[in-house]
Amino acid sequence: MSNSKTIIVSNRLPLQISIEDDKLEVSASVGGLATGMKSVHTEGNGIWVGWTGITDEDLNPKLRDTVNKRVKQEKCVAVNLTEQDIEDYYLGFSNKTLWPLFHYFMEYTAFETKEWNAYVEVNQKFANAVLEQLNDGDTVWVHDYQLLLVPEMIKAKKPYTTIGFFLHIPFPSYEIFRTFPWRSEVLEGMLGADLIGFHTYDYERHFLSSIKRILRLEVNFNEISYHNRIIKVDSFPMGIDYQKFWNAALKHNSDHEEKSDLQRRLDEHIDPEHNKKLILSIDRMDYTKGIPNRLRAFEYFLNAYPQYKEHVRLVMLAVPSRSNVPQYIKLKRETDELVGRINGQFATVSWTPIWYFYRSLPFSDLIDLYTSADVALITPVRDGMNLVAKEYVATRTNTDGVLILSEMAGAAKEMNEALLINPNSYDDFANTLKRALEMPEAEQKTRMKFLQKRLKRYDVEKWAKEFLSALRATRELQEVIV
Ligand code: UDP
Ligand code: G6P
Repeated sequence: MSNSKTIIVSNRLPLQISIEDDKLEVSASVGGLATGMKSVHTEGNGIWVGWTGITDEDLNPKLRDTVNKRVKQEKCVAVNLTEQDIEDYYLGFSNKTLWPLFHYFMEYTAFETKEWNAYVEVNQKFANAVLEQLNDGDTVWVHDYQLLLVPEMIKAKKPYTTIGFFLHIPFPSYEIFRTFPWRSEVLEGMLGADLIGFHTYDYERHFLSSIKRILRLEVNFNEISYHNRIIKVDSFPMGIDYQKFWNAALKHNSDHEEKSDLQRRLDEHIDPEHNKKLILSIDRMDYTKGIPNRLRAFEYFLNAYPQYKEHVRLVMLAVPSRSNVPQYIKLKRETDELVGRINGQFATVSWTPIWYFYRSLPFSDLIDLYTSADVALITPVRDGMNLVAKEYVATRTNTDGVLILSEMAGAAKEMNEALLINPNSYDDFANTLKRALEMPEAEQKTRMKFLQKRLKRYDVEKWAKEFLSALRATRELQEVIV
């Protein structure tokens, strides 16, 4: 049997470490990349290279040793970053330049040369950490916008390595991407990979258009000729660990399961006989997720359809994210104010329209929320994929429930049976919410079954297998050509 392995590389490891009184605290990372790839990593024989969430300044030699041992137990390898790296590469270039630009938030995008230089340096640190682990025959799979230069950096040192790259966020249209000062360098960085994957065909198309117009390379259908290599570009919509969510929901719904405090509180509002319904939204606290828009649209809905007052409750979970970046601080303030204003305006002695949690919750609480919600309201203004929408569907073991999903989420491309909306239209929003709340059970079930069938068939394991087998096929093709 071959000893070759797959090395996953991403900015964040699936486990996050913090230090309290010289002791390690370990928690799970939040976000689609980590939650999705975690199941792929646990099953496979590979390792995962990434950042632990702590910086060099937090560690003395003894603690560093303990951290390294702890991550090794999880088949991970830590990349050491300084506070300055985090400031300039992570909070800076990754999240003040690439994230807003790729999500079409031009007005939030900063172009700082100092941060670009840090981005190059830190990408080289990641590449070096991979090179230390790399043996002949290994496959490297690099993930996401924080590491766009890593494929080229590895290819430069080890040209025969098989390298895949997957972008978890949108790739913007040429008109947006062309404004980016380091556009050629970033494209060349990505072209170190043999296969480049996106969630949707649209992102793939935008990428190829930039390749043709910026680098002036020959593109034949979805193949790029570059430095005597053929590089393939394709779309692979990421799935979820469907069975994990389904099984957890089944267990949750069984009579034997003792109810959590959260579930008991949720149950107080659920009352189908009196037409009382729960609406759920779950997101990282991110301006791409359309949280203020959603709140204003909910307010508009309560004014447009006052019969729903006291009958619906919006349970909104917003997970803290990148809270040192100014735009995120502003968003948090705006969200707090909106929730306060709407609750102040509509609340009665026995009813609060919005329940707002600003924290991350353990998996079992997420299952309580998903299984209790009559409607999931997932309305990003721009989102690479959105796995929350898929997780909601996977927990509906009774096949009831309605998913309202923004057209601007990559997931909308495969979830036609959801109620798709334009999150910028309050009318569309309010009318669709009313339609969801009034949807006959038979229609809910027909739609849900279609959605479930597709998600079950194309789960995250299948997604990873397809990506890796397409990567192998690309390498075989290159060998034939050489
Ligand atoms: N999530 C989590 N803890 C929470 C809330 C959410 O781990 O308290 C997970 C959620 O289950 C999902 C991921 O975070 O798998 C969010 O992924 P998504 O693709 O929806 O958005 P992203 O955060 O990647 O933009
Ligand atoms: C999105 C990105 C991931 C990122 C996650 C959480 O899913 O695509 O790369 O890890 O958000 O963001 P954070 O900045 O906390 O890693």
